Amino acid sequence: MTSSYGLSGRAAVVTGATRGIGLAVARALAEAGAKVCVSARDADEVSRTAAELGGIGLAGDVADPGCPEELTELCLRTFGRLDVLVNNAATNQPYGPLMDADPAVWRRAFTVNVEAPLRLVQCAWRGWMREHGGAVVNICTEGATHVGPSVGAYGTSKAALRHLTRQLAGELGPGVRVNSVSPGLVRTEMARFMWEPRETEIAPALPLGRIGEPEDVARAVLWLASDEATWITGADLLVDGGTHVRAARPDVQRPYHFPGA
Ligand SMILES: NC(=O)c1ccc[n+]([C@@H]2O[C@H](COP(=O)([O-])OP(=O)(O)OC[C@H]3O[C@@H](n4cnc5c(N)ncnc54)[C@H](OP(=O)(O)O)[C@@H]3O)[C@@H](O)[C@H]2O)c1
Repeated sequence: MTSSYGLSGRAAVVTGATRGIGLAVARALAEAGAKVCVSARDADEVSRTAAELGGIGLAGDVADPGCPEELTELCLRTFGRLDVLVNNAATNQPYGPLMDADPAVWRRAFTVNVEAPLRLVQCAWRGWMREHGGAVVNICTEGATHVGPSVGAYGTSKAALRHLTRQLAGELGPGVRVNSVSPGLVRTEMARFMWEPRETEIAPALPLGRIGEPEDVARAVLWLASDEATWITGADLLVDGGTHVRAARPDVQRPYHFPGA
């Protein structure tokens, strides 16, 4: 993906950057000239990704207490700055009704999907952004506005992340912009259980006729992180191929819905 957004001289941290949306985001930022600091739990994948992008990497779980600080410090130590933070890593273990939810699974959803992004923003703010400014992009989900039977903790945690985005945008301006991107169904490992068995049914029911590719989301993240978006903060950008407006299609008998929607 070639880019016209100039990020050269800047440094970015991307969590969950070894595959799927995070990898596409890290690639887009690197192609736009940013130095990238990537992370995920699998150390081999982190090394491979950092090498591919000419950046650096840290293997770790964003939910681990020391990870946010280590990751932001690595970026600051190596590149001397931290201009862009993309909170992309997430967990979405599907399970049944919340009345039966295992408290540990519920806590894990909130630790990975909400608390870790906040801690990363705090570290980036203290280490660089408070003084020099920056841009944060949180990856939420189109599904955060729906209720459904199987992904209640995930959806609730992502709705919290969306609200956290707005709260931080209010607190951290004018120097730091905080926005979110909410993807619809994207062709990644995390969502394989949804798209693989039903893509031929799902795609025609979407106004734009296909499920998303990681690069569709990466382009939106890159734009929000760039100076093209300098008067945008607290916003959520839906990148969903029209998923949220699909019910208006007269040819769709039974509008497609996510298992969790
Ligand atoms: N795909 C979709 O349809 C879709 C739709 C809406 C929103 N989203 C959101 O988009 C984001 C990316 O999802 P994806 O579909 O690209 O997922 P993915 O293909 O499964 O990739 C997830 C990435 O995050 C890393 N990761 C997972 N848990 C982590 C943790 N606790 N700490 C650090 N790294 C972690 C993974 O590597 P390791 O396993 O090695 O840690 C991997 O690099 C998520 O926030 C997700 O909620 C996705």
